[in-house]
Amino acid sequence: MSAEPKILVVDDELVVIRSAERVLKSEGYQIEGALGGREAILKMEQGAYDLVFTDLKMPEVDGITLIRWIKKSRPNIGIVIITGYPSQDTMKEALELGIIDYVPKPFTPSVLLDVTKRAVEWAEGRKPAEEKAAEEFPPAMAKELDRVIGEYRHRPGSLIPALQRAQEIVGFLPPVVQKRIAKGLNMPEAEVHSVVSFYSFFTMKPRGDHNIRVCLGTACYVKGIEGVLEKIKERLKIDIGETTEDKKFSIEGVRCLGACGLAPVMMIDQETYGAMTPSKALKVMGEYGGPAGDQSPDEETAAVAEQEG
Ligand code: FES
Repeated sequence: MSAEPKILVVDDELVVIRSAERVLKSEGYQIEGALGGREAILKMEQGAYDLVFTDLKMPEVDGITLIRWIKKSRPNIGIVIITGYPSQDTMKEALELGIIDYVPKPFTPSVLLDVTKRAVEWAEGRKPAEEKAAEEFPPAMAKELDRVIGEYRHRPGSLIPALQRAQEIVGFLPPVVQKRIAKGLNMPEAEVHSVVSFYSFFTMKPRGDHNIRVCLGTACYVKGIEGVLEKIKERLKIDIGETTEDKKFSIEGVRCLGACGLAPVMMIDQETYGAMTPSKALKVMGEYGGPAGDQSPDEETAAVAEQEG
């Protein structure tokens, strides 16, 4: 894919095309518009595009018909739906056809940019699997991944365990891994992608050596997890979803770690730590080689008071 992905925005309302154009051009994407499915097909027959963002309800050639055509004739183009209120059936059909994502109308610039970024990443993962695997995996890792996929191939309900094993092997689940799993388990890539996006224990970005999972559920929130999280963020100088420069730690925010009686709770890798306070969190991080040794005098006093109290 070129450095500036080329996107075709298809909508029967010019105002939608114009506003998508305004938002996406400012980020360096190349945008063209088509006022309906028919015009979109003509454009795709004459030029190459990386992504198509399409409305569903359009006169003559509607969105679903257009998606079917793309899947058959231009299978390497990624598809995103931009639409108002799709019926569940239409949405299900679109998902089954393998769309990447959905932008609700009217959209805000940040939602559109966020989905576009993901769609571009997704479309980049559509290079031939072997080519991409050679770029991103050591051969031993690819071999192990294929062995695991093979193990789960004929087992019902195997997607989540297969993804878990894949994440253990690769460390995260980028589009190329999702695609390999979809192919191996013989299921739509969109289904794999939606499961990975839905469960917080799956990540599409590489994590650090130690993953800190901070519970943001109600019980933990009420007991003060916010202060704990702030302290961890401040000390590691990263936000939720990020990894430290030395690749040692990442922070993840989750809804409930299933240990509400111990609130506030955090986990580092597979270990659960309850009744957290900001200074205890620093101390625990220190056990994993985190920057806990340089506690300020105030933090040291607080830690001692907590231990004594
Ligand atoms: S709310 Fe935090 S563990 Fe359940």
